[in-house]
Amino acid sequence: MKPYSSSCERNSAPILNVLKQVIGDKHKTLLEVGSGTGQHAVSLASEFPHLLWTCSDVKSNHEGIGLWLKESNISNIKGPLEFEIDKDDFPIGDFDLIFTANTFHIIGWKKVEIFMQLCGENLKKNALVIIYGPFNYNGKYTSQSNADFDVWLKELNPLSTICSFEDVSENMLLNGFTLLNDFEMPANNRTLVFVKI
Ligand SMILES: C[S@@+](CC[C@H](N)C(=O)[O-])C[C@H]1O[C@@H](n2cnc3c(N)ncnc32)[C@H](O)[C@@H]1O
Repeated sequence: MKPYSSSCERNSAPILNVLKQVIGDKHKTLLEVGSGTGQHAVSLASEFPHLLWTCSDVKSNHEGIGLWLKESNISNIKGPLEFEIDKDDFPIGDFDLIFTANTFHIIGWKKVEIFMQLCGENLKKNALVIIYGPFNYNGKYTSQSNADFDVWLKELNPLSTICSFEDVSENMLLNGFTLLNDFEMPANNRTLVFVKI
């Protein structure tokens, strides 16, 4: 049976709104990291027909992603590729966009750092890294619901936690990226857009 994410249903339209502001005609190849169910790819890729959208995730999610992709039959989606941060090499491809949603607070800071390093090593000048999810600012949660969410995350996995916007921005800079946009999103989420300099 196809996996289903209700949050993907809710956040796809606001994410599309942001992607339309940052993805241009010159962008040709997008790698999605942590595709989850595959619903973001299915709801977003067809809006950018000039783009090849490549899904990736850990192996155990591939079957579910495959079911969504097969049913949608959208021609500009490829994958899923096997890409587990801290295990696999960065996927081969001349990607000019990386999109990842709701992964940073799941995978733990060490893997977030590895992800940012891999982006720095593998992306070319002007490539964008687009990160959707909750972030803390100035050491503070942006809402009580994010604070409660963080407690819940850590109960599931002590390494999981909402990342600091400042830590991510500083680390991206160390890896050759500067912040282009920080979009406010519904439900106390953000979309951070970094560009390779
Ligand atoms: C909360 S889900 C988000 C899925 C989807 N992007 C969304 O927004 O619904 C977190 C995703 O991170 C993936 N993930 C966990 N550890 C990972 C790792 N080491 N490398 C890449 N992806 C990972 C999970 O398999 C899962 O798909």
